[in-house]
Amino acid sequence: MQEQTAWGRRLASATTEQAVVYRDVLVPAVFGPCATQLVSTAVQGDELRVLDAGSGTGAVARAAAMRLRPGAHVTAVDLNGAFLGAARGLQARAGASNAEVTYQQGDVLELPFADGTFDLLLTQHVLQYLPELPRAVEELARVTNADGRLWAVVWQGLAANPMFRALTELVRRQWNEELAERFSAPWSLAPERLRQVMEGAGLVDVESVGLDVMAHFRSVEEVLWVVAFSPVGAALRQLEPSEAAAFTARMRQAVTPWHEGTGVRAPMAAGCVGGRRAPAL
Ligand SMILES: C[S@@+](CC[C@H](N)C(=O)[O-])C[C@H]1O[C@@H](n2cnc3c(N)ncnc32)[C@H](O)[C@@H]1O
Repeated sequence: MQEQTAWGRRLASATTEQAVVYRDVLVPAVFGPCATQLVSTAVQGDELRVLDAGSGTGAVARAAAMRLRPGAHVTAVDLNGAFLGAARGLQARAGASNAEVTYQQGDVLELPFADGTFDLLLTQHVLQYLPELPRAVEELARVTNADGRLWAVVWQGLAANPMFRALTELVRRQWNEELAERFSAPWSLAPERLRQVMEGAGLVDVESVGLDVMAHFRSVEEVLWVVAFSPVGAALRQLEPSEAAAFTARMRQAVTPWHEGTGVRAPMAAGCVGGRRAPAL
C-alpha cells in the first residue's frame, strides 16, 4: 500500500465505533443522498458485474443493487475492515434488493481482480484521498471491461461548499495554513482535473455531471463529529480545555447560517465524472 494522505490515513484507520457513526450519521446526512444521484447518473440497469471501489459502509453498493436486475452482482471493496463490518451489519437489517452485494477488503491501488472483470465501476469520495491519482484511475480502468464505464464522484472546491469553507477558515485562524489544507483535502480534487486524468488513462467519451447534494445533519454535534474525526482532531485534543471550548463555540457560531430547527442543512456540490474504456480492437 502506498503512503496515504492525512484524511486517507484517518479513514483507513477508522475504528469499528467510528465506522458505525459514519454509517448511521454521515451516510444518511451526506453520502447516501450523493450515492443516489451517482447511481441514477451511472447505472443503466443491464450491468451484471459492478464494483464499488472504496465502498466505506456500502452506500453506493446498496443503491446500485436496488437498481440492477436480479442475477447482477455488486462487489464492494474497502481498505478498512471496520467499514466493511459496519456495512455487513446494515445489510443484514436491510430489505431485499435485486442484485447481491459482497464486501471484500482490498486496496484501490492494487485491486484483487483480473483485468476487465467489471461492466461498471463506481467510486464515491475516495480518489481525493489517494496519493497517486493517475495510478488509481489506471487501476480502476484496468478492472473495467472493454466498453465498460467508470464513474467517480468527488466534491467540488470549497467555493461551492460554503459550510466547510467556513469551518476551514476557522481552522486556518486557530492553527495554520498547513492544517487548513489537510482539513480541506476532501474538496481539493476538482472534477475538471479528474476528467483530465481519466482522458490521460485512455478513457473515451469522458463527461462530467454536477451533483447538488443537500446535506442534512440532525444536530450541530454531528457536524462537530466530522471535525473531531478529521486530521484536525489530534490538534483539537491538544488544546487546553478552555481553548478547545472556545474553538468549539466558534464552530457552533460558524454553522449558524445553515441551522434548520435542531439540525443543520447545507448545500454541498460534487462532480460526477465518467468515461468508457475503449472497446478492444
Ligand atoms: C469518505 S469515505 C467514502 C466511502 C463511500 N464511498 C461512501 O460514499 O460512503 C472514503 C473511503 O475510502 C476508503 N479508502 C481510502 N483509501 C483506500 C484505498 N487505498 N483502497 C481502498 N479503500 C480506501 C476509506 O477506508 C473509506 O472507506
